[in-house]
Amino acid sequence: MSARPVYLNGEWCDTATAQVSVFDRGYLFGDGVYEVIPAFDGQLFGLEPHMDRLSRSLREIGISEPLARQDWQEIFDRLLEDYAGRDAAIYLQVTRGAPVPRDHAWPDPPTAPGVMATVSPIGAHSDGARAITLPDQRWGRCDIKTINLLPNTMARQRAVEQGVDEAILVRDGLVIEGSATNLFAVIGGRLVTAPTGPQMLAGITRGLLIDLVRREGLVEVDESFITVSALRGADEVFLTSSTKDLWPVLEIDGEPVGQGKGAGRPGPVTRHLDGHFQQLKQSQRRPA
Ligand code: PDD
Repeated sequence: MSARPVYLNGEWCDTATAQVSVFDRGYLFGDGVYEVIPAFDGQLFGLEPHMDRLSRSLREIGISEPLARQDWQEIFDRLLEDYAGRDAAIYLQVTRGAPVPRDHAWPDPPTAPGVMATVSPIGAHSDGARAITLPDQRWGRCDIKTINLLPNTMARQRAVEQGVDEAILVRDGLVIEGSATNLFAVIGGRLVTAPTGPQMLAGITRGLLIDLVRREGLVEVDESFITVSALRGADEVFLTSSTKDLWPVLEIDGEPVGQGKGAGRPGPVTRHLDGHFQQLKQSQRRPA
């Protein structure tokens, strides 16, 4: 892997030289939050809602804002310098800093937060995903975008070991979201997705898509929970995330999604909505 620029606690370094303290609470406790912000052809997409969600995550776990938005913007500009013509994802995280000695209680007075930001190319993904359903083993505040992602990584690993792309997390028989994606189903002409709340992450792609669909009157949106059997009987299913846009799900637990001739293929509603979403991305680009 070639070295990439890294912003770390006020300094610029690269992936080969960046070093954090072994006492950083992100490292010791997963005590921090993060964002993944996409940039298409070097231009950030959905920056404001991502930064609003970062502020909310920080507030919810009691870490003060480490940087003004203008400072973040300057960091992003520098990270994206080499990304004209390519798609990239900014990764940023803020931890509660590195107080010594290790103690579960938060440092008082607070230590300086640990701030890191870097960038990676967004790789191509397949035209359709295969998924399995798994029990959701996460905590009660999945609305906070915490770096503490062990259950998510375990679920994704189970999916990979079973030769599929994503794990769909199920709690009390209800479909919540993917291990790193939100989930939409098309059922009887309606677009159904789980409501936001402490059980899941309010994805920015999810929010932008719902706003777009409602604004343009594309299809009725229903923010309700569905059961696993309703998911299995859905006409279409797709996942959303900042690095995958709308990603059709072609197979769940080994069975094709949808019925008849179109089963196991990206469905017409998904393709239609994706077309509008791609237009939204284009329309938000600054002229060169
Ligand atoms: N994951 N749900 C979970 C649990 C997620 O981790 C993510 C994003 C999403 C989609 O959110 P958004 O549309 O804001 O990207 C939903 C990022 C991409 C990650 O962890 O890499």
